[in-house]
Amino acid sequence: MQMAMAGTIGTLVAHGKGILAADESQATIRRRFEPYEIEPTTENQRRYRQMLFTTPGLAEYISGVILYDETLRQHADDGRSFVALLAANGIVPGVKVDAGTRPLAGAPGESITEGLDGLRARLEEYRTLGARFAKWRAVITIGDGRPSSYCLDTNSHALARYTALCQEAGLVPIVEPEVLMDGTHSLERSFEVAEATLERVFAALRSQRVALEHLLLKPSMVVPGVDSPDQAGIQDVAEATVRCLRRAVPAAVPGIVFLSGGQDALLATAHLNAMNAMPAVHPPAVHPWPLSFSFARALQGPALDAWRGEPRNVPAGQRAFRHRARCNSAASEGRYSPEMEDPAAGTFVEQVRG
Ligand code: 13P
Repeated sequence: MQMAMAGTIGTLVAHGKGILAADESQATIRRRFEPYEIEPTTENQRRYRQMLFTTPGLAEYISGVILYDETLRQHADDGRSFVALLAANGIVPGVKVDAGTRPLAGAPGESITEGLDGLRARLEEYRTLGARFAKWRAVITIGDGRPSSYCLDTNSHALARYTALCQEAGLVPIVEPEVLMDGTHSLERSFEVAEATLERVFAALRSQRVALEHLLLKPSMVVPGVDSPDQAGIQDVAEATVRCLRRAVPAAVPGIVFLSGGQDALLATAHLNAMNAMPAVHPPAVHPWPLSFSFARALQGPALDAWRGEPRNVPAGQRAFRHRARCNSAASEGRYSPEMEDPAAGTFVEQVRG
């Protein structure tokens, strides 16, 4: 079991590769489709995922895909299950196993992630269906009096229970404590909360006897609140994120794959690149873990925008998706440059060249 998990982790964080998060729940995909007036029918969702998963050359940049329960059971037009199709291309299928967030009793404005009841049996079924890794997302908000210590503890406890059950089932757990970027907070406040969150999460993982060597961490980048008057530069975000991770994440963890959290797609790429291109924080050491991506919006946004639900736009959607996958692959090795982008991204190119 442990050998199998180690093998899966090696594949997932292979050099120059990252993970596509395509595990949007029904409610989330409805929100993503809405601006394009795409009907959120099961068939439209299936066609959208099929476009992404059949993108030519994808396996060069993408090592794994996180699926939603329903998608894990769906098939492509050629009759193959999505799981079989991905696996045939050397891409590891994974699955979101949490049941989403609900208000946390006694903590107004905060949430708890549900889904532990019956999880052992579900993990067994997911394994049988071909999933080799899993994901659980906890959500932490920054605001007046938030996050509460209570919220950090309950969410860390649930994350650790999920992680232990995954390892028992031989599925690699992706541990995702997302600190939301909603709000007006500063980069410094974001750093404080990210550090406190990671400390609690790792304390809970240790107390629940989890093997740190057999999990992947999926954190947010340390960015100021989206409505903060003080936005940070690319280098500032990269340095704050790496400093925070070095303080809080044990070197035993075999890989860190970031979520994009609603950042502009190109900016998320530039942040990841800056982290991997930075002269090591304490020379001559390199980062203790590979730093790669497990983006949903920052990989899919431009593809969805090109596709818009139209069958004739499938090649354009796939081109846009492959392009973001390629840029993020380069960023995971610190060799992305804005010149890789379309000239249409001119403003951004200038911003990055600074
Ligand atoms: P984003 O990259 O859009 O933040 O999504 C990642 C994810 O998996 C959320 O759970």
